[in-house]
This record gives sequence, structure tokens and C-alpha cells, in this order.
Amino acid sequence: MNVPNHVAIIMDGNGRWATKRGLKRSAGHLEGSKTLEKLAIHAYDMGVKVLSVYAFSTDNFKRDPEEVEYLMNLLVKYFNTKFEKIIKRGVKIVISGRKTNLREDVLEAINNIEAKTKANQNGILNICFNYGGQEEIIDGALKLAKDINSGLDITNFKREDFYKYLYHELPPIDLLIRTGGEERVSNFMLYQMSYSEFYFTNTYFPDFDKSEFNKALFMFENRDRRFGGLHDIQTK
Ligand code: FPP
Repeated sequence: MNVPNHVAIIMDGNGRWATKRGLKRSAGHLEGSKTLEKLAIHAYDMGVKVLSVYAFSTDNFKRDPEEVEYLMNLLVKYFNTKFEKIIKRGVKIVISGRKTNLREDVLEAINNIEAKTKANQNGILNICFNYGGQEEIIDGALKLAKDINSGLDITNFKREDFYKYLYHELPPIDLLIRTGGEERVSNFMLYQMSYSEFYFTNTYFPDFDKSEFNKALFMFENRDRRFGGLHDIQTK
């Protein structure tokens, strides 16, 4: 099977999943977190090397403060005490996003989980948090500008060379999945998704289980990726 090396997921529909059941939106986020734990293990079992997920965008701060606080607390709890199965598997966890505007305990939880898993080599879980794709490109461009000021020669600077200026040097995204029925990219990993295949589903994220994930893999296997050329070129 031709399995995508890097899969990214916009985990949408948590709120609607909960509302449909007469529950508070926060119940959807909790259920979504449980789904993510199971899904990540399954993805690595299937041969995916890098999984990126959109957990909180810079724009999510516009939400009701109660929901923002719930999400922050949930993330701290997950970073500090959950994800054991994922960590035991040797997965390295990295967080992409701006470190500004965040509570002390959130920053601490981020640093702890990154430090604890930094030597792991059996896959990467990239959690995008306080994240914006345009912001990542701007922050990268500013780092590059500093290097240029310090004398970096950019005569032959190529698009591949810019990856190391992003929050983490991850490979390009092969497959982007968005659950919850919307068909847009919402400022997610814009640089890395230039040649991604897109898979949209109406399924709300809490219901996006292994068999739903396999449907996306199956679709990917049947796509003819030409990368602007005429023939199918493999990424790996
Ligand atoms: C979008 O659904 C989802 C979010 C803004 C949060 C996603 C977060 C999780 C799944 C929590 C898991 C993360 C970790 C790392 C523990 P929505 O609330 O916009 O849903 P709606 O469109 O139905 O309102």
C-alpha cells in the first residue's frame, strides 16, 4: 500500500458533535481528544511517519472565554498525563505555534512533553497550538532575515531550504484530512501543503475512527500525484 508519509488533520466538528447530543461543546472537545489518541496509534500502525493536527488556532482565541479556558486546561491535562500509549511507542511530540499569549502552565506543559519525547524516533506527532499558517511563514521569514543580516548567502536559496525556518522541520504534507463538512484550509500549514491531496468528510471529528481514517488512506492510494509534471512521481 502506498501510505502517505505525512498526514495532517483539521479536527473539525467537535462542537456540533456535542450539540447534536444535547451536550456542552466542551464534551465534544473531550471526545475529540480521545479520538485523537486512538487515531494516532492507528496511523503509525498503518505506516504514517508524521501526523500533524490542528488543536487550537491563533483565531480560536476569539471564542467564548469559557471554551478557550476549557481547551487550554484539556491540553495541559493531555500533555501532562495522557498520550502515554503514543509516548510508549517512541513517538516524538512537537508543538507548532506561537509561544506568546499563553498561560505559564500551558507553556510548561508544552516544554515538558517536548523535552520528554525529544529523543524518540518512531514517528512524530505535531500538535499545532496557538497556530496560524501565515504566522508560521512570517515567523520563518523573520528568522531567515536575521540569518541574511548575519551574512547567509541566499544566492541559491530554494523552496526546500525554507522548511528549516518553519516551527519544526517537517516533511511536506502528503494527505490533508478535514472532518466536519467544511472544505477550506483555515490557515493551517500553508507552506507544507503545497502539493497535498485533500480529503474532506462530513463525519464529525469525535466519530472519525480507524475505519474512517482507512477510507482516506484508500482514497490517497488511488490518487495520481503528478506534482505539476506529467507522470506519477513518488514522494518517497
Ligand atoms: C474544531 O471543532 C476543533 C477545535 C477548535 C479544537 C480541536 C481540539 C481537540 C480535538 C482537542 C484535542 C487536542 C489535544 C492535543 C488533546 P469546533 O469546535 O470548531 O467544532 P464545530 O465546528 O462543530 O463548532
